[in-house]
Amino acid sequence: MNIAWDGAAYTSNFSFVHQYGQSVIELIEAGKGSAVLDLGCGNGALSNVLREKGYLVKGMDASPELLDIARKSHPTIEFIQADATCFSLAEPVDVVFSNAVLHWIDREQQDNMLNCVHDVLKKSGEFVFELGGYGNNDQIHGALREVFSAHGFSYNMPFYFPTIGEYTALLERAGFQVRFAVLFDRPTELKGENGMRDWINMFLKTPFSVVKQEGEKEAMIEEALRGLRSSLYKNGSWYSDYVRLRIRSVRL
Ligand code: BEZ
Repeated sequence: MNIAWDGAAYTSNFSFVHQYGQSVIELIEAGKGSAVLDLGCGNGALSNVLREKGYLVKGMDASPELLDIARKSHPTIEFIQADATCFSLAEPVDVVFSNAVLHWIDREQQDNMLNCVHDVLKKSGEFVFELGGYGNNDQIHGALREVFSAHGFSYNMPFYFPTIGEYTALLERAGFQVRFAVLFDRPTELKGENGMRDWINMFLKTPFSVVKQEGEKEAMIEEALRGLRSSLYKNGSWYSDYVRLRIRSVRL
């Protein structure tokens, strides 16, 4: 799914995405000097961390808005605009890395993405990644589902949050061997009193595209926030109920 990103707001309010992503990089076993593709690199923050660790990194993303920020922030890294479900590279790489991106790809398109990753990796190359896993943001989506229904709309949750079993089966079918897989809760503090409202506005644009009446979207978000406050607002901060699926696999 390709959406228009507000790159500046993303970079200033959601920097936790790349901060947490640094621990995913630790799973890479290839040494310094290895060629790494950062798939869904966004604003390039993790591409830069990979570069600082000594990898020869290229970033790839579909979003021109985020690539613009990436290129201005890290002018010496090559950033390529491409769709993760349909791409190739002139030279194969040792590692494909991806953080907080693959859940944006529909289940039906996952096989295409995995085939592309397989084809750009050298034999025994690593595919190391994290995405939202089964149950990710269940409370947030549950609250919104109720509010959408009360307003006469159906809520289309736009993400794919697989279980370990489901995703490792996809990987095996696409020609990968899974060496490490873990699903874990990672409640994440959101910045400021408006943290949850900002999060919903930033990441849930597509479900709200059906709401046309002036002011109704804002009213619906306020209703959802009232429902979520008792469980996801603690000691003066909002928390997103993230569940992560983290995997290291190798190309056979
Ligand atoms: C995630 O990283 O899990 C995520 C972020 C935004 C929307 C949906 C999921």
